[in-house]
Amino acid sequence: MTYAGNLTNLSDIENLPNYTFVKADITDKEQVRLVFEKYKFDGIIHLAAESHVDRSIMYPDSFVLTNVVGTLNLLNAANARWKEDFSDKLFYHVSTDEVYGSLGKEGYFTEETAYDPRSPYSASKASSDHLVRAYFHTYGLPVVITNCSNNYGPYQFPEKLIPLMIHNIKNNKPLPVYGKGENVRDWLWVPDHVEAIDLVFHNGKRGETYNIGGSNEWKNLDLVRRLCSIMDKKLGRNEGASANLITYVKDRAGHDLRYAIDASKIKKELGWQPSITFEEGLDKTADWYLTNETWLNNLISGAYMSYYEKQYEKR
Ligand code: TYD
Repeated sequence: MTYAGNLTNLSDIENLPNYTFVKADITDKEQVRLVFEKYKFDGIIHLAAESHVDRSIMYPDSFVLTNVVGTLNLLNAANARWKEDFSDKLFYHVSTDEVYGSLGKEGYFTEETAYDPRSPYSASKASSDHLVRAYFHTYGLPVVITNCSNNYGPYQFPEKLIPLMIHNIKNNKPLPVYGKGENVRDWLWVPDHVEAIDLVFHNGKRGETYNIGGSNEWKNLDLVRRLCSIMDKKLGRNEGASANLITYVKDRAGHDLRYAIDASKIKKELGWQPSITFEEGLDKTADWYLTNETWLNNLISGAYMSYYEKQYEKR
């Protein structure tokens, strides 16, 4: 329930009998303890995090608080409640491939790649991964970790590359490409990530790590150009019209060159694989943002506008 939290994202499940919403802050130990005491759950899928690299460059402290201290509080609460009997319990930490650092033109991140985080965001996620593994080895807490590549799809907060570009194309605003647009990301369709999380939660081996990636590498500039051409068609613009909005801006500090995941472990051991092509995924994503204008407009509040100005105005 920070700036990117939005309860309307959960409206399709809010009437399910096994769903309960509790507003609590994971940096508050006592609140976390009370939630564990009240609900007595035996499984946790921990996705609560500050996740935007650019924000971590501006406000590193909140990343350490939420991602490191928040994870520690959840680990302590789980450990305290479960320590008499760890059987059938699971603490699942959802993490990022950014903990592995930056790749050159060749190679892939595997589960064996040494950690080398380079932004305050990735350093905070690396720290929380280390804590999760430490609780497995030290206390025997049953844990599993997944490290995923860049997610895209419906409901993504428009600070991230794809929804930001869709929104700006639609509104004829400049499309801010950092540096020369040569950085590479491996894009993962969010429903495929969800499918993988479900598989790992039910069938993953305790103490293990699984990398989840779309095997779908794109240079930022090529991706933005592709989006422009998809949107030109959807908005009835001439081919090339939206690409004229591309504006090269000052590069991100410490910008990781390339991320790419070797997802063979989760494919081989749990039978997971991406379900759709990037073309289909981008098309569906563009349609979703065009048909959910109200959702987007409700987010583009004063807080988003002041973030946007601070981030992009003088770039
Ligand atoms: P982002 O969506 O912030 O994800 P991450 O930093 O976790 O990979 O950015 C994806 C890529 O797009 C990254 O290389 C930075 C670049 N980028 C831009 O060029 N312009 C933008 O306005 C944003 C938000 C990102």
